[in-house]
Amino acid sequence: MSDRVRTAVMISGRGSNLDALIAASAEPGFPARIVQVLSNNPEAAGLARARAAGIEALAVDHRPFKQDREAHERVLDQALQAARVELVALAGYMRVLTPWFVGRWAGRMINIHPSLLPAFPGLHTHARVLQAGCTIHGCTVHWVTEGVDAGPILGQADVPVLADDTPDSLAARVLQAEHRLYPQCLAKAAEAVRLRRA
Ligand code: GAR
Repeated sequence: MSDRVRTAVMISGRGSNLDALIAASAEPGFPARIVQVLSNNPEAAGLARARAAGIEALAVDHRPFKQDREAHERVLDQALQAARVELVALAGYMRVLTPWFVGRWAGRMINIHPSLLPAFPGLHTHARVLQAGCTIHGCTVHWVTEGVDAGPILGQADVPVLADDTPDSLAARVLQAEHRLYPQCLAKAAEAVRLRRA
């Protein structure tokens, strides 16, 4: 029996970080096993990719829940419990989570953000970095706490900003760094969860 940490990945769209995590978790000795992929968006491309990799993939559309974000998250939480998930990795999950959900998964949920936090929390980071004239940009993986993009940092990777960058060219360079960083940080988080099991 494997003692790998049962991990769910939550996505809203493309799922390229999900792909990187699936590839890493296929390596022998990787401490996390991806057992479930959840999305608020039934059209998320990553759902099909997860199923192709033999991973349970569920969409819980947030729209019928209207303003009741917690009711939507209670359904997600039930799915996580049913799959006996121990660690949640947000990978392009584009909804702000309620204090209820964050509290429930405190110390057991991580997120990737496309900036060098604490600089540039929130949306449109690449355009804002260019606007600010920064010469270094990057990405961060952090534990999720109630403040948006504010929890303790697990790891960061930097990339140069080039003179002729557009938001899209910069996003593509940061995304490559994300795909290297997230598996390393998921492994670190899984080791932390595993230590706490004992
Ligand atoms: C990634 O760049 C990720 O850092 C970002 O969304 C993209 C998802 O891409 N996340 C956020 O902005 C969270 N606030 P992917 O679906 O291809 O992994």
